[in-house]
Amino acid sequence: MDISVLGTGYLGATHAACMAELGFSVVGVDIDEAKIAALSAGTTPFYEPGLGPILRRAMDNGRLVFTTDISVAARATVHFIAVGTPQAKGSFAADTSAVEQVLRALVPHLEGDHVVIGKSTVPVGTAAHLQAMVDELAGDRANVEVCWNPEFLREGYAVQDTITPDRIVLGISQPSSPAREVVEKLYAQALAAGTPMIVTDLATAELVKVAANAFLATKISFINAVSEVCEAAGADVTAVADALGHDKRIGRRFLNAGLGFGGGCLPKDIRAFMARAGELGANEALTFLREVDAINMRRRDHLVQVVKSVCGGSLIGQNIAVLGCAFKPHSDDVRDSPSLAVAGALSLGGAEVSVYDPQAMDNARAIFPTLHYATDTQEVLSGADCVVVATEWPEFLELDPSEAATMVRTPRVVDGRNVIDRQAWLAAGWSVHALGRPSLEPSSS
Ligand SMILES: NC(=O)c1ccc[n+]([C@@H]2O[C@H](COP(=O)([O-])OP(=O)(O)OC[C@H]3O[C@@H](n4cnc5c(N)ncnc54)[C@H](O)[C@@H]3O)[C@@H](O)[C@H]2O)c1
Repeated sequence: MDISVLGTGYLGATHAACMAELGFSVVGVDIDEAKIAALSAGTTPFYEPGLGPILRRAMDNGRLVFTTDISVAARATVHFIAVGTPQAKGSFAADTSAVEQVLRALVPHLEGDHVVIGKSTVPVGTAAHLQAMVDELAGDRANVEVCWNPEFLREGYAVQDTITPDRIVLGISQPSSPAREVVEKLYAQALAAGTPMIVTDLATAELVKVAANAFLATKISFINAVSEVCEAAGADVTAVADALGHDKRIGRRFLNAGLGFGGGCLPKDIRAFMARAGELGANEALTFLREVDAINMRRRDHLVQVVKSVCGGSLIGQNIAVLGCAFKPHSDDVRDSPSLAVAGALSLGGAEVSVYDPQAMDNARAIFPTLHYATDTQEVLSGADCVVVATEWPEFLELDPSEAATMVRTPRVVDGRNVIDRQAWLAAGWSVHALGRPSLEPSSS
């Protein structure tokens, strides 16, 4: 079974390499020539742990090729859609034009039986619309079935999540659909290992993905809303989260109060979910997601205000070290990154901002060229009046606070992710600040 993967970004490049690793013959197609050139040279155009070796292994044994020529994909019979579905300009809705474009480009080349497996995150109803479009484009030449198999991978764990997913969701148009057998063959290894497979209609499969992201976003914003009340009441949100987390119905994961969520998925997916619900007439169903979004966005402003207050009420002339600018650790992705937004706002507020991230520097520099980008942790800390922990990379958590104190001008730390060992930093002479927790000041004696 030959496979094409259409769109070779974070999702598609990983999926293409993993499918080749599982033994399939794969062609990855993208319109971005630079990306295809990098992938063809065996280089991953983004940071994803473990992806490089499997990509090169698959290319060396001839199972994986990349091209910008979509007609090459017509030699495959199974086509995964992994193109982007960003937020549309001037609207909350998802821009699904790339999904349509890629099928408009592919289908005229097809003959015989083909299965299109959508992985991109799309508004409910998209797959049914695409099936009608594809039927028209294919005419009598080809029989093309569209099914939807939403992707749940996490950047930073993308290889593991692709090869051993925690569930496989498949939306098909009819129970007897041949796509089901195709998908079962593709994921035979995961299915043999006991991975649950949920087979539904197209609309349900599309909804599973956006509902999952809306739930995760809501859980994060819930604890961040509680964090706001903790600050007003002098309580500690981390202790609240720990205590809540012992309740098995709630669980501790995604209850870390802090700077909130960002990245290429959660923010745009909750907005697209609201927009689509409105189009379907379910206007009131998801209005709470507006609040989820608003709580999340005000975390960024709030962190800037906390830093300002820690610095004595003004950012002007303050040297601020921002640790991390990726939207989360183990990724170089800065799309809608809360950390980078905070670094930018501090700079615009008059501070001298120096940023260091183990992987995301080039991507950040392209978006925010006016910040100072340090070459390592030592340089970023050097002469700082305030250190902001913005992305919870392990190397920042492992910093020795005593050593760090010798590098800065003033030992003040603002933990935007509630991850550092507060008592250790306090003991090393730092004044320690966070979101949703009382500040700790070293005794003057
Ligand atoms: N990144 C994730 O963690 C993740 C997880 C689950 C789902 N998703 C979903 O997967 C989709 C892709 O996300 P991503 O993060 O990989 O985005 P991305 O921007 O990294 O990659 C999208 C790729 O599609 C390519 N593309 C656009 N139009 C094309 C066309 N007409 N033909 C061929 N290629 C085209 C772009 O050049 C780009 O390389 C989105 O719908 C996203 O919501 C992403």
